[in-house]
Amino acid sequence: MNIITDPTELQRQCLTWRKQGHSIGLVPTMGYLHHGHTSLIGRARPECDRLVVSVFVNPTQFGENEDLSSYPRDFESDRAKAEAQGVDLLFAPEPGAMYEANHATWVEVPRLAIHLCGATRPVHFRGVCTVVTKLFMLTQAEVAVFGEKDWQQLAVLRRMVRDLNIPIRLIGHPIVREEDGLALSSRNAYLTKEERAAAPNIRKGLLKLAEKAKAGERDCAALKRFLAEEFAATLPMGEVDYIEIVDPDEISPITTIARSGLAAVAVRMGKARLIDNILIEG
Ligand code: PAF
Repeated sequence: MNIITDPTELQRQCLTWRKQGHSIGLVPTMGYLHHGHTSLIGRARPECDRLVVSVFVNPTQFGENEDLSSYPRDFESDRAKAEAQGVDLLFAPEPGAMYEANHATWVEVPRLAIHLCGATRPVHFRGVCTVVTKLFMLTQAEVAVFGEKDWQQLAVLRRMVRDLNIPIRLIGHPIVREEDGLALSSRNAYLTKEERAAAPNIRKGLLKLAEKAKAGERDCAALKRFLAEEFAATLPMGEVDYIEIVDPDEISPITTIARSGLAAVAVRMGKARLIDNILIEG
């Protein structure tokens, strides 16, 4: 496996591959790879001839008081996991290599970034769109895989790709969970034993909400109230950031689930902010 830290060198290598007729796949990550990431890599592997994985804790998607400096990092473990998954190229740049001191260009999809995580993380999706666009330009990838845990991120990126005619196919990959239902996340490492024991109740609450919707309750206010009560009872140490039901493509709140709705939540537990979602269809 080739390891590259210089963006220009990455671009040169990928352009050479393209000239040789190879298709390129990309899995962008912020490292500290877990089974969720390796399943994205596994999903991407058969889709391309050459697979690039990026490991970059992107500073521009963190707000001022967020966890940029404490975000977990373990490059040696990431390298070993990527290699074991048959990755061809690991791209691990330094922040200064990705952003010049006078960096001045941003990519945004503001309308899809108002609600859910965008409401409390105002610069987050602008940072994500900008770095992902840079990775698309550097790798010339034809396909990229993103996890559905960050459903809003995937919706924002799909719209960006469509609106800007970026020649890439995005694949969304289902959420990978622990046996007890907790969605895998690098930030789970922040949880204390007590918080970790309660955290699966996020998923349990969402499943109960989906059952209620299936049984005929389509009023979003009633469903959200129900989930807030569930969380109050089962996650006493959790501080709800949001409980929302949105149109799955537009990421705008809906009042009634007609055809489909995405129930999405963010809960702060100690140092961790955990997100999860469930799609309600039919
Ligand atoms: O989902 C993530 O880990 C990040 O937002 C991404 C897509 C790698 C961009 O930094």
